[in-house]
Amino acid sequence: MAKALSPVTVTLVQQKSALKVANYQVDEVPTSLRVLQQKPAVSVPPLTGGVRVVTAAEYKEAAACLAEAFAEDDVARYFIDVPDREHWTPEEKWALHVDILEYVTYAHILKGLVTTIGDFEAVALWMPPGQNMDDTWTVLRSGMWRLQYKLSAEGKRRFFNEFLPLLHDTKHAALGERDDNSWYLVYIGTRPSGRGKGHCRKLMEHVTKQADKEGLACYLESSNEANPPIYRKFGFQDVRTIHLQRADRNVILDIMIREPATPEKK
Ligand SMILES: CC(C)(COP(=O)(O)OP(=O)(O)OC[C@H]1O[C@@H](n2cnc3c(N)ncnc32)[C@H](O)[C@@H]1OP(=O)(O)O)[C@@H](O)C(=O)NCCC(=O)NCCS
Repeated sequence: MAKALSPVTVTLVQQKSALKVANYQVDEVPTSLRVLQQKPAVSVPPLTGGVRVVTAAEYKEAAACLAEAFAEDDVARYFIDVPDREHWTPEEKWALHVDILEYVTYAHILKGLVTTIGDFEAVALWMPPGQNMDDTWTVLRSGMWRLQYKLSAEGKRRFFNEFLPLLHDTKHAALGERDDNSWYLVYIGTRPSGRGKGHCRKLMEHVTKQADKEGLACYLESSNEANPPIYRKFGFQDVRTIHLQRADRNVILDIMIREPATPEKK
């Protein structure tokens, strides 16, 4: 799990949110503007096996699936279970968890590729080659800017000062010049009730087959030690581990890259 949002964006978010907050409804991600009727920003790999693309109108359902899948994920909780939010109720923390996933899902609908299978039993957020959600318009449209006031002071330090720069720098170091020419699996999650039915495999192979055709690598960060063995089945290999260090115990992320099955590289 990770974010295709570079540290550079943080500055933009801070500046622009201060300037433009008044133009938007605070509690709603806008869904009615014309841009949502435009074609997706990316060309979608052929849809097979019941995989389909999530539309802007469905962002809440997709985010709800991810919220459930990542309910106990150490990284997802890292920004919420913070000392300066100890007084929050579980319900307040859950609402923030859902909010964050709604913003991230919406940003990927705008700039990336969001896929699902079944009745939102599993959802994947991809950032295709050359795409990112750094631009101010996407940060504003998706609601990501709201993290500036929804996260606590410590939550913001963890998210903006530690997490985003670490992920950005690690991805760049691991992929080198391919950083802008690879598929980035930002999130994949299957609801507990839908697990073990091949949903993750179908969502994964939907893109990895395309990446093979294109001769491109796929990149992910795994936030759960149970997952690398699953991802190795799809051809991902361990590259390195990184640590988030501001909590009582470190949170470990496994960095994995899948090389294309075909040798021809672009
Ligand atoms: C990881 C996750 C997405 C897998 O989803 P899933 O839909 O259950 O996976 P699939 O049914 O497609 O299984 C894919 C492969 O992994 C294997 N697998 C799945 N869960 C497994 C487990 N707990 N232990 C061992 N192998 C497992 C399956 O056997 C299958 O292999 P096969 O196709 O060779 O038989 C799901 O467990 C999940 O959402 N976990 C919580 C959120 C999370 O950690 N997401 C990833 C963050 S990086």
